Amino acid sequence: MSIVNARDIMMEAAKGNYAVGAFNITDLVQMEAVVEAAVEKRAPVIIQTSVKPSKFLGRQVLVAVYRTLAEAAPIPVCLHLDHCTEIDYCKKCADAGYTNIMIDASKQVYEENIRQTKEVVDYCHSVGNISVEGELGTVGGVEDQIKVAEDEAALANPDQAIEFVERTGVDIFAPAIGTAHGVYKTKNPKIDFERLGQINQMLNGGGIKTPLVVHGGTGLPEDYIKRLLEMGGAKFNVSTELKHTLIDTTYAYISERRDEYDPGKIDAAVKDAIRGVVGHWIDMLQSAGKA
Ligand code: 13P
Repeated sequence: MSIVNARDIMMEAAKGNYAVGAFNITDLVQMEAVVEAAVEKRAPVIIQTSVKPSKFLGRQVLVAVYRTLAEAAPIPVCLHLDHCTEIDYCKKCADAGYTNIMIDASKQVYEENIRQTKEVVDYCHSVGNISVEGELGTVGGVEDQIKVAEDEAALANPDQAIEFVERTGVDIFAPAIGTAHGVYKTKNPKIDFERLGQINQMLNGGGIKTPLVVHGGTGLPEDYIKRLLEMGGAKFNVSTELKHTLIDTTYAYISERRDEYDPGKIDAAVKDAIRGVVGHWIDMLQSAGKA
């Protein structure tokens, strides 16, 4: 049985100076690929769905497949709802069996962000062993239906971050530090490593209490990832890279075999490619062999 929430595996990661990979999937082939890659690497892993694929595939279907895969896997696997702005849908996914919920009220004013986040935390903790992620400041780019222009992206204020975590009771915390969803427009994105380190020191310096999340994994240079790990990143979110892998692999496969009509073979090629991407991330995050 390896159904876990995000907090428990991230506490281990934060103590052991590695991070858990959190991979956004939009279909069941990708979900299988993520779990297979993590099993091959013996790494704890987080499967994520944003709200649109969750509603499209159906939360009960996703949870049923997740539970089937996780129960058969000899590693801990979490199912996370990513960037949900609707309190009601957060609660529905908690009821359905997601094990980590992200309420994203980061576009609200500070007090409203606290109010909404706390409501979801209180609900999830009353339902069972479900952890909750909150965000302060905003991540640039586009994830699911949420668009933030890069010049609107505000970084998390460290003092406010501590107050936010205390007042909401979130289990894991995503401070905006300059990472962005989607493909970075520059080779050297401007990331505020020190801000992450400072927040980590203030929150977890006396012993790990609230592990930190890094959004916008796609396109981060490897040396940035290493530095973010050192500064306390214990969960890295990767979405765009998986979407590109799915589409590019499908396109290449079909282009080369225009007369073949065997969808199973396209799925197998996609699964293979996604497994490779996830395996590489697990190596970069140093979580291989940790499960
Ligand atoms: P990318 O799409 O940049 O990988 O970001 C993913 C993410 O942060 C999802 O929450």
